[in-house]
Amino acid sequence: MKKIIIAIDGFSSTGKSTVAKQLAKALGYVYIDTGAMYRAVALFAMKHDLVGENFIKKQDLEDKLSEIQINFKLNLKNDIAEAYLNGNNVENDIRSLEVSQFVSPIAAISSVRKKLVEQQQKMGAEKGIVMDGRDIGTVVFPKAELKIFMNASAEKRAQRRYEELTAKGDKVSYESVLKNIEERDHIDTTREDSPLVKAKDAILFDNSVLSKEEQFEKLKGLALEYIEK
Ligand code: DC
Repeated sequence: MKKIIIAIDGFSSTGKSTVAKQLAKALGYVYIDTGAMYRAVALFAMKHDLVGENFIKKQDLEDKLSEIQINFKLNLKNDIAEAYLNGNNVENDIRSLEVSQFVSPIAAISSVRKKLVEQQQKMGAEKGIVMDGRDIGTVVFPKAELKIFMNASAEKRAQRRYEELTAKGDKVSYESVLKNIEERDHIDTTREDSPLVKAKDAILFDNSVLSKEEQFEKLKGLALEYIEK
């Protein structure tokens, strides 16, 4: 099968990663969750007291960037490419609400973006990849053959995220999750470096109305169309 690059961008908790994972599996492609990479940097910053409730030590984090190694390893038990930070599996830790609270300001730092974008471009150099994030179709792979932009209402996204977190046993309120999503939307769309915008040639998917199965089928159909072109 021909190898192309499929870029999936969009707002937080739109279900990008669920559908991106399914699509990669169906096509025999590699799946990369770039949000996990920004989350791993945020976790590193938290562990080194470089970010907190009202502060962010940007210069100290920049000085330590070369100490941060992020990679993915496939867990054969659940078929998920799990994130590793400096050799430790952080797949669970990076999904906490605490990391979610600190990740957007960390992702707004240009030197952090530069490091991760370079790594992402290397990961996709051989194509045959589905990558999801905020700037994949605009910055990481502006020439990606297929670009998707996903959106849904903030309430719908908060509900989805709230259900995921409480199912894992996290004690969070729906209001705190909604507030976090709205704050992240604001930071992600207004930051100076690579703000979240729909690439002109991206196809818009509003999944407030489409079910997961419908999204997957529609996306798979589109992907096959582009692969066969
Ligand atoms: O997709 P996510 O919620 O796991 O992403 C976590 C944060 O990382 C989110 O606030 C935006 C940021 N991010 C980014 O700036 N660029 C990307 N390519 C992916 C994520």
